[in-house]
Amino acid sequence: MSITTEAELIGMQKVSEAVAITLREMRNFAKAGMTTKELDEFGANLLNEFGAKSAPFLTYKFPGHTCISVNHEVAHGIPSASKILQDGDLINIDVSAELGGFWSDNGGSFIIGKDINKHQPLINASKRILEKAISNIKGGVRISQIGLLIETEARKSGYRVIKNLAGHGVGRSLHEEPSEIANYCDRLNFNRFKKNSVVAIETFISTRSTFADTEKDGWTLTGNRGGFVAQHEHTIVVTDGKPIILTEMNGIWN
Ligand code: CO
Ligand code: CO
Repeated sequence: MSITTEAELIGMQKVSEAVAITLREMRNFAKAGMTTKELDEFGANLLNEFGAKSAPFLTYKFPGHTCISVNHEVAHGIPSASKILQDGDLINIDVSAELGGFWSDNGGSFIIGKDINKHQPLINASKRILEKAISNIKGGVRISQIGLLIETEARKSGYRVIKNLAGHGVGRSLHEEPSEIANYCDRLNFNRFKKNSVVAIETFISTRSTFADTEKDGWTLTGNRGGFVAQHEHTIVVTDGKPIILTEMNGIWN
């Protein structure tokens, strides 16, 4: 969406606060021994307290309130009573919701307990790349240029990117124009970021895989060549200068 009134900005700030605090509190709550369903229910209660509704459920009838992807799962992991978190797991939580007709999206990867599987460098690279990508976005910048930046930075750190997952416009629905803010230089994408538009910028930094495939459950995405993927996502408003990071209080950069 494009923000044209003060009321629209306030609406986007409210829903962004709901998804950001829900993500932050889910991160703090997650620990070894807990099932991903327990973690999802904790998040569902928080969204409910804000009066917000789960976006993946509203939009796609996703079988959960938030997406919780563990280890080799890249994205869209289904919360499950049989999936128990363990020390050293790489986990990604993605929270998106609707509140008062406005939609916002954010996510982040982190480690459960001690980093016994040495995932921290991948996570750090993903955070740093998202920060750099966002700080380079302003009105008039080509979307493909940000994709090039993400892929170049990933390679410099010894990683790859997932090519068929992307950031996207957001605001009046979960996914809107521009529909593909890729993590690589898509030379056929001539679109530019527009001032006052709301977009969700997300990294998909990978140790091995370059594509995400859908599992038999119809939802869970895993890498085509295995390995691990870290994702960090903020919803932002594009300006003439530095973007406004609507989901900043999720604390994914801390
Ligand atoms: Co998104
Ligand atoms: Co998301």
